[in-house]
Amino acid sequence: MTLLDVRGLTVTYADGAAAVRGVDLSLEAGGTLGIAGESGCGKSTLALALLRLLPPGTRVGGAVLLDGEDVLSMKWGRVRAVRWAGASIVFQGAMHSLNPMRRVGDQIAEPILLHRRAGPAGARRRTGELLEQVGLPAARAAAYPHELSGGQRQRVMIAMALACDPRLIVADEPTTALDVMIQAQILRLIGQLVADQDVGLVMISHDLAVLADTCDRLAVMYAGRVVEEGPAGQVYAAARHPYAQALSAAFPRIGDPASRFAPRGLPGDPPDPAALPPGCVFRPRCPVALDICAVQDPPLRDTGDDRSAACVRITTRVTTPTAATDSDTARDTARETDRETAADTPGDEAPAPAPAPGRSEEARRDTP
Ligand SMILES: Nc1ncnc2c1ncn2[C@@H]1O[C@H](COP(=O)(O)OP(=O)(O)OP(=O)(O)O)[C@@H](O)[C@H]1O
Ligand code: SF4
Ligand SMILES: [Mg+2]
Repeated sequence: MTLLDVRGLTVTYADGAAAVRGVDLSLEAGGTLGIAGESGCGKSTLALALLRLLPPGTRVGGAVLLDGEDVLSMKWGRVRAVRWAGASIVFQGAMHSLNPMRRVGDQIAEPILLHRRAGPAGARRRTGELLEQVGLPAARAAAYPHELSGGQRQRVMIAMALACDPRLIVADEPTTALDVMIQAQILRLIGQLVADQDVGLVMISHDLAVLADTCDRLAVMYAGRVVEEGPAGQVYAAARHPYAQALSAAFPRIGDPASRFAPRGLPGDPPDPAALPPGCVFRPRCPVALDICAVQDPPLRDTGDDRSAACVRITTRVTTPTAATDSDTARDTARETDRETAADTPGDEAPAPAPAPGRSEEARRDTP
C-alpha cells in the first residue's frame, strides 16, 4: 500500500527561488527512500513541504498524499494532527534544535501530551521507554541538551520523532556533523527502528553511499528536480543520468584504490534557482550534452525496468508483446524494443510537465 505519494510538487520561495520543480515520488508503507543531491538542490525544501513547514509567502503546488490524504489541502487543524502522529521529521542540524532551557525528557513528552496520547505520568513513562529504545538510559530524561554529546542529542531527536508512533519519518541529514562511528550507530538505529516498527522512512543526504546502504530506493535530485530514481543499489552502482553518475563517481569505492585517490568531481556550480537556464538545467555542467539539451528540459521518464531518469540520452526500454492469443506465449515472446528517445526524435519528446498552479502557504492556513 502506498504510504506517501508526491505528485508534481513545486515550491517557490517568496524571493522567486524555484527550489522544487515538479517532483513525483512515492513510498510504500514500511519502505525506505533515500534522497540525494548536492547542496542547494532542494532536499530540505522538499522535506519541509511534505509537512507544510515552509515559511509564509512560499508558493507550493502539486499534491502530497499521505495515506491518500492530501497534506497540502488539509485544514490547518488536521495538519497539526498529522504532524508527529502521521508523519514526523528529524530536522537537518537536529542536534542543535533542542531547546537549551528545557530538560530533554520534557521536550520528548511534549508531542505525547499535545496529541493526548497519555497524561503527564504516562508521558513520563513513554519518554523513558523511547530513550531506551534509542539506546539512552531513561534517567537521561532529566538532562539538559548541553549535558549530552552530539550523538546523544541526535538520539533524543529520533526518540522525539518516534514519540507518537508515526507511519512515516522524514530524516533530513540525520548524521551530518557526527563522527563516522556515531554516524554508523545512528544509521543502524534508524534501520532497526524502521524494520521493527514498519515505519516508512524518507532519508535525505548528500552521501549516496550512506543512502545506498540504508534505503530500498534512491532518488537523485538536481536543481529542484528528481533526475534519477530506482532501486538504491542499482542507482548507486550503475547510475544512468550524467549528474547521478558524477555524484556516484565522487565517492571512493572499497576495493578500488583508483577511486580512492582520484575521486572524480564535477566542475561548475548548480544554477541559481531564481534564474534557471533554458533547456536541461544540467547542460552547463554536462559532459555529454547535445544541441537539443539547450531547448529541451526532459521530464523524469520510466525506463521500463523499475527505474526512471530525466535525460534525452537515456534509452527507454519499451516492452511490447507480439500479437498472440495465448497470454503465456505473448509473455514469452515479449519483444523488448530499445528506443533512443528525444536525442533522435525531438519531435516526439513529451513537453516538461507544467508546474501545478501554486498556492501560497498563507492561503492554506485557515486557523493557525
Ligand atoms: N527560506 C528560504 N528563502 C529563500 N530561499 C531559500 C530558503 N530556504 C532555502 N532556499 C533556497 O532554496 C534552494 C534549496 O535549498 P535547500 O535548503 O532545500 O537545499 P538542500 O538540498 O537541502 O541543501 P543542503 O544539502 O545544503 O542542506 C537553495 O537555493 C536555497 O538557497
Ligand atoms: S538532457 Fe542533455 S544536458 Fe541534460 S543530462 Fe541529459 S545529455 Fe546532459
Ligand atoms: Mg538541506
